[in-house]
Amino acid sequence: MRLVLMGPPGAGKGTQGDRLAEWLDVPRLSTGDMLRAARAEGSQLGQEAQRYMDAGELVPDDVILGLIGEAFDRPEAARGFVLDGFPRTVAQAEGLAAILVGRGESLDAVLDLAVPDAEVVARLSGRRLCSVCGEVTHVAVAGESGRCPTCGGELIQRSDDSPTTIQNRLRVYREQTQPVLDWYDRSEEGLRSVRGTGSVEEIFARLQQAVGG
Ligand code: AP5
Repeated sequence: MRLVLMGPPGAGKGTQGDRLAEWLDVPRLSTGDMLRAARAEGSQLGQEAQRYMDAGELVPDDVILGLIGEAFDRPEAARGFVLDGFPRTVAQAEGLAAILVGRGESLDAVLDLAVPDAEVVARLSGRRLCSVCGEVTHVAVAGESGRCPTCGGELIQRSDDSPTTIQNRLRVYREQTQPVLDWYDRSEEGLRSVRGTGSVEEIFARLQQAVGG
């Protein structure tokens, strides 16, 4: 199964993408995670990406398409994938279509998690990551302790989850990624919009229904 999971920053793409990938037994391919890994390694690509990410701007299309091409070449992607945070521009959507044609493959579904701006801001402002096990959580779940609910590790905040950068990420989403939704809506794959509010379990059930599970 080959899925694209779209939605604004903080819509829950990572949270739900992990569940979908486990359910379908395919990898979740997140361009944001790939870029953060490159940053952590200190590679040249990671250093170049950092200034875009910290400002809430998009990393150039050719860099992103290169990362996706490499990810698709890994053996586990032969089973399918859940794409999270890609494509984010019409040029990336066209690049993906060309890569898939070259592989003799096509997308099974393009899902859009619909979440209002106010909810997105609340989710991102309170998002925390465990510095030990990497789990993504929220201050509303972790409470005042500042410790990971799963392993007790110290929680940290993503550098692009500051109030100014959140607002810029939303602006960039409206200007550069909303047109991708329209592009898919008019395409053969079509666009399946899923309400992204409610509990994590409720949203996951809606997504399963949307892909026909
Ligand atoms: P990326 O990492 O892709 O960030 P994003 O799209 O802004 O999405 P997020 O990871 O912030 O949120 P999410 O939707 O995964 O939500 P999550 O599940 O964490 O990209 C970061 C940057 O990298 C970009 O700004 C850009 O610079 C660059 N980049 C990446 N891809 C690119 C591309 N293709 N082209 C160019 N540049 C690119 O959930 C958020 C919070 O909400 C968490 O705290 C979670 O616990 C909580 N939550 C989740 N579900 C619920 C729920 N149902 N109810 C309440 N809280 C919930």
